[in-house]
Amino acid sequence: MKNPFLSGTKVYLRPLEREDAPLLVPWINDAEVTRTLEVFYRPMNLQTELEFIENIYKSEHDVVLGIAVKQTDALIGATGLHRLDGKNRRASFGIFIGEKAEWGKGYGTEVTTLMTGYAFETLNLNRVWLHVYEYNERGIRAYEKVGFTREGVLRQDRYHEGRYWDTITMAILREEWEARKRQVR
Ligand SMILES: CC(C)(COP(=O)(O)OP(=O)(O)OC[C@H]1O[C@@H](n2cnc3c(N)ncnc32)[C@H](O)[C@@H]1OP(=O)(O)O)[C@@H](O)C(=O)NCCC(=O)NCCS
Repeated sequence: MKNPFLSGTKVYLRPLEREDAPLLVPWINDAEVTRTLEVFYRPMNLQTELEFIENIYKSEHDVVLGIAVKQTDALIGATGLHRLDGKNRRASFGIFIGEKAEWGKGYGTEVTTLMTGYAFETLNLNRVWLHVYEYNERGIRAYEKVGFTREGVLRQDRYHEGRYWDTITMAILREEWEARKRQVR
């Protein structure tokens, strides 16, 4: 493992470096990857990605990490807690696995578990929330497995491929996280 910050069974999370940018850029320009992502609908070039990596680690409102496979050290995507709000003790969660061959191997579920645990147990947050599009069944399933529940629907919130789609708000509270941990023990 290279510079692990959070470690799971199959993947570990590490800070992104400038050297990672050339790998990240093609993923962010890949329509199959970005069809379920909110922010990446405009073209991204290397310079923009380098600036993102440089600036994000200065932000007190974001915790961004690369996702690496333990066995190979290969970087396959990135994840983050965003909009960190110290007063209300909440943050939003985001993830993308850019290496499409790595979808469906349980990595997304493990990353969500690692980041949610970090949010509650290290950052002492009370609520982690996310937005997911109604057609992102893989994402919804992964979040449900970690204990996120559906809270509400933003109707026709997303325009994609010629029509509007609903956005689902999901969240997990600290008390729900702790109750699930007690069940596992
Ligand atoms: C969404 C994402 C993070 C999920 O990670 P992942 O590693 O692919 O997902 P996992 O393997 O951990 O879990 C996926 C689950 O969804 C299930 N699944 C896969 N395709 C599905 C489908 N079409 N319908 C319903 N469930 C589906 C899998 O079977 C698995 O559940 P199971 O373990 O009960 O069998 C990842 O696919 C990704 O980064 N996609 C592109 C970007 C993205 O959508 N980011 C999230 C934005 S909210």
